[in-house]
Amino acid sequence: MANDTPDLRQIVSQINSDMAQVEDRGSVANYIPQLACVDPFQFGIAVVTADGRIVKGGHADTPFSIQSVSKVFTLTLALRQLGEALWDRVGWEPSGDPFNSIVQLEAENGRPRNPFINAGAIAVTDALLGRRTPVEAVTEILQFLREVAQDESISVDAVVAKSEKASGFRNVALANFMRDWGIIRNAPEKALDVYFNHCAVSMSCQQLALAGRYLAWGGRLGPEGPQIIPAIIARRINALMLTCGHYDGSGAFAFRVGLPGKSGVGGGILAIVPGQASIAVWSPGLNEVGNSKLGSLALEKLTSQTGWSVFAMH
Ligand code: DON
Repeated sequence: MANDTPDLRQIVSQINSDMAQVEDRGSVANYIPQLACVDPFQFGIAVVTADGRIVKGGHADTPFSIQSVSKVFTLTLALRQLGEALWDRVGWEPSGDPFNSIVQLEAENGRPRNPFINAGAIAVTDALLGRRTPVEAVTEILQFLREVAQDESISVDAVVAKSEKASGFRNVALANFMRDWGIIRNAPEKALDVYFNHCAVSMSCQQLALAGRYLAWGGRLGPEGPQIIPAIIARRINALMLTCGHYDGSGAFAFRVGLPGKSGVGGGILAIVPGQASIAVWSPGLNEVGNSKLGSLALEKLTSQTGWSVFAMH
């Protein structure tokens, strides 16, 4: 930030008070019954900077269901384990369709457009599962999250996982369709078991912002931190977050916020400022394309005041 811009602490605190005044908070996801019970009048933000400071506001320590934000971490693990072979099963183009759409799969031989739409994430999860048991795969995902967030308390909310398992008929259809094409190699219910569990991980904004550090610092947990993944993988995941991380709202997010970002229907968004910061925001109300309404607004305010953008010098 330039010297004449306000201090990050002031900016974050102002955004937090501004968000408290917003009346239209969108609607909470209700297709996963357990998520419909969450109080929409909550907002949290946490920013981890290059010097390791954590600047936070609102409900930054309240755990929430990370849902599709988890797809960033399963993609990371799958790329680390399978490398380029992963792209035989999933593409890297934006879909321009809703996150749970099935329409392109039929026309494109069961290979999902990208790893962040539900079909693509289920295919990535199946690749990561490989020949292991679902319990082993979920344990590995949790271990990774605990390592990158440096927090052993991160866990799966079993009630949310069960709630989605009981109502996730669309995902069952996607998985079965991809199994028929050989994109999914395990029994669909096994891949879905892992998928519903990783979507149901609970994390706070602070934990999520800490977990995202390796994307901001070329695969390292901070400028001088340990190398978790090769820099090229971090670069590619950031590219996919920018182009596909908000589904059919990805263009609007790039236009308004200008950062790689990944949203979830629990209302969380992880956003990355390469070389500068890892940011997590959370507010449960969603806009019409399923991305956090206040979360997006808060990030727009934060980037306009800090100048943070992958499209500008800062
Ligand atoms: O599969 C689902 O529908 C959810 N577990 C995740 C979807 C999601 O978070 C989409 N994000 N905005």
